Amino acid sequence: MAESVRTIEWKDGVVVTIDQTVLPGKEVWIELKTCQQVASALKEMKIRGAPLIGVAAAYGIALTAYHSKAQKKENFMRELEDAAETIKNTRPTAVNLFWAADRILKTARETRGSVEDVKKAVVAEAQKMADEDAAVNRRIGKHGAKLIKDGDTVLTHCNAGRLATVDYGTALAVVRAAWEEGKRIRVIADETRPLLQGARLTTFELMRDGIPVTLITDNMAGYFMSKGLISKVVVGADRIVCDAVINKIGTYSVAVLAHEHGVPFYVAAPTSTFDLSKKAKDVTIEERNPAEVTHFGSVRIAPEGVKVMNPAFDVTPIKYVTAIVCEEGVLTRNKFKNRVRKQA
Ligand code: MRU
Repeated sequence: MAESVRTIEWKDGVVVTIDQTVLPGKEVWIELKTCQQVASALKEMKIRGAPLIGVAAAYGIALTAYHSKAQKKENFMRELEDAAETIKNTRPTAVNLFWAADRILKTARETRGSVEDVKKAVVAEAQKMADEDAAVNRRIGKHGAKLIKDGDTVLTHCNAGRLATVDYGTALAVVRAAWEEGKRIRVIADETRPLLQGARLTTFELMRDGIPVTLITDNMAGYFMSKGLISKVVVGADRIVCDAVINKIGTYSVAVLAHEHGVPFYVAAPTSTFDLSKKAKDVTIEERNPAEVTHFGSVRIAPEGVKVMNPAFDVTPIKYVTAIVCEEGVLTRNKFKNRVRKQA
């Protein structure tokens, strides 16, 4: 992927994105022409990462709008509602998906005029959301870079990079911005079982940018922390609720280890990932296909018929989070709690 190319783009009624299931072995760009195709790509995780999922959701509904043959507004609106429903049924945990679908529906409902006017407004709103994501991530990077010192080793989990967003990343925005400021840093990437987003995607994009990265298996994080070899942890988020951060399975273990070893644990995410009226217990944790656990890639590693559990995300209580970096700045745990209180 060339550096200036966005992870997802709208091109005259077609959504173009990179298939993340085959990276880093193959770089395959796919063209999605219907909302159903976007929904399938989300389910299969060809498109993944909370901010990217949000923009893909918006583009998916925009595809339905753009290609609609409906003459009457009523019928057109029904098509959009159905498209939003299809999108909302793909993955339950990342709030960006629901936030984006609702924002597009709101635009459609509030736009006066003909079906054509609403079509234009919906496509423009989806484009705006993509542009906003790219801009917001730069701001996350700028704020977060202040937390990173020259010589730091930053551990990250999963992929919260350019590939998980339209551009620049969230956790990796912090890393990128620090690197661009000239700080000599190193990244330790957790492999992130079972789908290996760390091993496949984080290493891929950091190596492309020439940022030093070392891959470890998930169960090595504690060892490196105990040796004093990790200065900071920076991860992304799929949903930030009033009492917790919900992110890729394994994040919680890293947070507890960081706490035990006095390593700052930072979460970098846009405010579109905030869902502060909810508590962790209100959020559905996606349970995925057992084959992701019984197989390593396409190779079976567990006996046929073994029972499997495969939650895709876990819950890190706010007490383990040193600060949340969003486009507005660095919210220390106390600032975050104040924000929650004000919003209640
Ligand atoms: O299941 P995925 O790969 O969509 O999960 C992605 C993550 O958990 C990321 O860490 C999170 O979305 C932040 S992405 C900027």
